[in-house]
Amino acid sequence: MSSVYVIGGSGYTGSELMRILLNHPKVNELTVTARQWKDESVKEKLPHLDTELRFEELNLTKANRSDFVFVCLPHTQAMEIVPKLDTRVIDLSADFRIKDQNKYEAVYKVKHTAPNLLYDAVYGLPEIYRSNIKKARIVANPGCLATGAILALYPLVKNYDAKNIIVDAKTGISGAGKNVTETSHFPNLNENIVPYKLTNHRHIAEMEQELGVDVHFTPQVIPVTRGILTTVHAFVEGDLERVGEFYKKTYKREPFTKILADPPSILAVRGSNYCHIGGFAHEKGRVVLFSAIDNLVKGASGQAVQNMNIMAGWDERAGIEAMGLSP
Ligand SMILES: NC(=O)c1ccc[n+]([C@@H]2O[C@H](COP(=O)([O-])OP(=O)(O)OC[C@H]3O[C@@H](n4cnc5c(N)ncnc54)[C@H](OP(=O)(O)O)[C@@H]3O)[C@@H](O)[C@H]2O)c1
Repeated sequence: MSSVYVIGGSGYTGSELMRILLNHPKVNELTVTARQWKDESVKEKLPHLDTELRFEELNLTKANRSDFVFVCLPHTQAMEIVPKLDTRVIDLSADFRIKDQNKYEAVYKVKHTAPNLLYDAVYGLPEIYRSNIKKARIVANPGCLATGAILALYPLVKNYDAKNIIVDAKTGISGAGKNVTETSHFPNLNENIVPYKLTNHRHIAEMEQELGVDVHFTPQVIPVTRGILTTVHAFVEGDLERVGEFYKKTYKREPFTKILADPPSILAVRGSNYCHIGGFAHEKGRVVLFSAIDNLVKGASGQAVQNMNIMAGWDERAGIEAMGLSP
């Protein structure tokens, strides 16, 4: 059994982690911090969580006595905390995902204050880095949009010389965290679709780092709470009838990444750690396919728990076996 410490439990990824960890068969001690709700009852603030826990103030000594620490803070805040931790850490922010310090600083427009840890941190996408994650002390949990795009593209770039890769993602509003913005204000988002970051989205750096190819990416926010539907278009040469076959082969043993014949649906993966990929079609050298994830589960807290399970050598599905909440 293990003790787990969650920093930033008042946010969306932190509360989703609690929902998973409170039912995890290998976690017997859970501590959750939140500055704004210090000493308050978790179930009073988050009534969907049936627990006697109270939010605590951050205590680094206690965090370092835990087997695993999850850091659920905004980028720039995470890199102030992670260097003070000497136990096994899963960071959900962007601070340790980009290996090249100059690239990180150019993309996030801040100085990295812990560059010595960038190469120690393993990019936490189990489908690609399972064996490195097992030995890692620090795991940089991937971005939600990056998870959807990388899983959708990885078998294609591995097996084909793919060019002019265009990725379009429709994302639910919880991807932006719990703070209200102009975009998330109900009258502005309801019955609407809002394109944002038309070029230079920060997650492009992760996609290109992991795939080794140029990616052109534009997201749009849609009026749903959770879910990302990613559409991939790429121009490739070769036997395009076999594309789906390569996907099945690549992800054959994956517990959470599943290949469908039809386009996937964000409803089918809602509340689950699954990534569904499907809808393979091609015309005039263009391949089109889709992935669907829940941004708070496979795109964040579920994948973070999948990484902890791998690091600990437990069943990778422990605590995250739940199927999608559809309809
Ligand atoms: N939302 C998603 O779908 C998603 C997916 C993948 C990755 N992520 C990443 O995961 C991290 C957390 O995201 P989230 O969606 O949970 O954000 P969130 O809902 O905005 O919550 C972040 C929490 O961090 C704490 N915090 C905020 N500013 C802080 C500061 N200056 N110093 C210390 N603590 C601070 C706050 O709690 P207190 O003020 O109570 O301490 C807040 O509740 C971010 O880095 C985000 O990019 C999010």
